[in-house]
This record gives sequence, C-alpha cells and structure tokens, in this order.
Amino acid sequence: MNPAVTTGLAAATPVPAAADEARWQTLLEHRNEAPPSHAGCPLQALYQPLLTSRGPYAVGHLAQSLDGRIATTSGISRWLSGGEDLLHTHRMRAIADAVLVGANTVLHDDPQLTVRLCAGRNPVRVVIDPDGRLDGSQRVFTDGAAPTLLLIADDLARPGERRGQAEVIPIARGTHGLDPHQIRHALQQRGLAWLFIEGGGVTVSRFLAAGALDRLQITVAPVILGSGRPSIVLPEITDLCHSLRPRTRRFILGEDVMIECDFHG
Ligand SMILES: NC(=O)c1ccc[n+]([C@@H]2O[C@H](COP(=O)([O-])OP(=O)(O)OC[C@H]3O[C@@H](n4cnc5c(N)ncnc54)[C@H](OP(=O)(O)O)[C@@H]3O)[C@@H](O)[C@H]2O)c1
Repeated sequence: MNPAVTTGLAAATPVPAAADEARWQTLLEHRNEAPPSHAGCPLQALYQPLLTSRGPYAVGHLAQSLDGRIATTSGISRWLSGGEDLLHTHRMRAIADAVLVGANTVLHDDPQLTVRLCAGRNPVRVVIDPDGRLDGSQRVFTDGAAPTLLLIADDLARPGERRGQAEVIPIARGTHGLDPHQIRHALQQRGLAWLFIEGGGVTVSRFLAAGALDRLQITVAPVILGSGRPSIVLPEITDLCHSLRPRTRRFILGEDVMIECDFHG
C-alpha cells in the first residue's frame, strides 16, 4: 500500500506502509541532519519536516469518520481508521519526546502508547486528568513500558504523589481546564519539548483553541457513524471569515486520507 503526499488542493500522495520500514529507520537515524536525497519519497515528504522541526513543537492527531466522529457515544473507537493510520501514529510516537492523551481515552481504551509497529523508542506518556478521576489501574500506570506523567490540577495534587508508577505533576487551572501552554511549559522543563497529542477530541480541541498546536493531523476514514463523540470542537463563530484556514498537506493512508494543517505555514 502506498501513501501519497499533496499540498493545497493538489492530489494526495500515497504513503508506503510496512514495506518502508528500512527507509523509516534511516529517516529516524538521521533526524536533525540534512535529508538523504530521496526526492519524491512520500515517507520522507511526510516525516522529514517533523523530524527536523526544532525547538518546542506540538502535533495533534485524530482519526475521524466522514461525519466528524472519533468514537461511538459509548467510547468505542477501535478501529475507526485503518492499519496505515495506526502505523502512522506509532511513527509519530517514535518522533515525539512525549505522547499526551486525555483521561477519557485512558478510561475507554486503556492504551499502551508505546512504539510497537515500527522502529523507535517509546515516548514519555502523559495523561491529562485534572480531577484525578483515574484510579491508577490502567496500563500506562502499571506496565512499566515507559515513564508516565499524570497531570492533575494543582489544588488537588499532593507533593511527591504517585498514581501507580506515574509521577503526578501539578498544573494550574485556567479558564478552560488546564492551560495547554502551561502543560507545554511544564513538560519542556522536564526536557519534553516535542509533543504528540494523540486524543481524544476534547484534549486536541483544547490545545487547538489555545493556539498551542504547531500542526494538526486529521485522518478521515470512509465511514459514517451518524452519532458519537465529536472530533474538533471550538468556540462558536458567527462568520466563515473567522474559521481557521491553515496551509495543508494531504496524504493517502490506505483507504483513509490524512490532512495535516500547518499553523505556522
Ligand atoms: N479516533 C481517534 O483518533 C481517537 C483518539 C483517542 C481517543 N479516541 C476515543 O475518544 C474518546 C475519548 O475522547 P474524548 O474527547 O471523549 O476525551 P479525551 O480527550 O480523551 O479526554 C478528555 C478529558 O481529559 C481531560 N482533559 C483533557 N485536556 C484537558 C485540559 N486541557 N484541561 C483539563 N482537562 C483536560 C478532561 O477530564 P475531566 O473530564 O476530568 O475534566 C476531559 O474531559 C474515547 O472513546 C477514545 O476511544 C479516539
């Protein structure tokens, strides 16, 4: 299966999957270096700008249906998008210093958030749970596969507190929950500058609303749910001139199409 790349309204580029593992490893090994010359390679087109992005960086990702849902109302999301998008999320984890998810995702999916489908080291796992709803029994708190940080509101977190194996990090409450910029700052102080925000919709939306995303990747799967948990939800606008119109690139991931928004492009 080939992934493809396109920008603007041009055609989308099919991006190769597992057969490109060797090329993926080369890209990963040479991150921060001048790109090896594989002009026209879709894998390189997709990942090179991400691998070479300097300084603090945050990329959000959601897989959604044609009608903008990321899960059923009861919270079932496996597997909305296909295997190539799943492989893509593992590659994004491998690029990132830390992978972030909201409390609902941990409750419903009990994800491992590790790199298992491609080469690369596991990122630090970060769970946003302002009121400490999670009891510490989920895999990110118990499996020891990678360090886990639990972000709790500072009025609830106790000094030195742990939840399972996770270190609890207090974050100040803002107007709309924990301020994504404060989250980025707190993680950056721990050397976690390159962040992959993997969901769900509430978490990614709050980062987007706060202007705390450098890129947003939305993979659209050819399925209609007709109900369910929403993808991006932002404060209401009254005119289309207030909508976000970032520069975009498009990639074919098997049956799915991923549109990547670049908010600094
Ligand atoms: N299709 C996909 O790409 C994808 C990816 C991941 C998950 N999912 C699915 O999506 C569902 C979960 O998504 P969701 O949108 O319902 O929830 P979510 O984003 O996983 O978690 C949202 C919760 O996390 C906490 N949170 C996140 N950011 C916060 C912030 N800045 N400040 C304060 N609290 C914050 C809040 O907890 P409190 O409510 O305690 O305040 C919030 O309600 C699950 O069913 C999962 O299977 C789908």
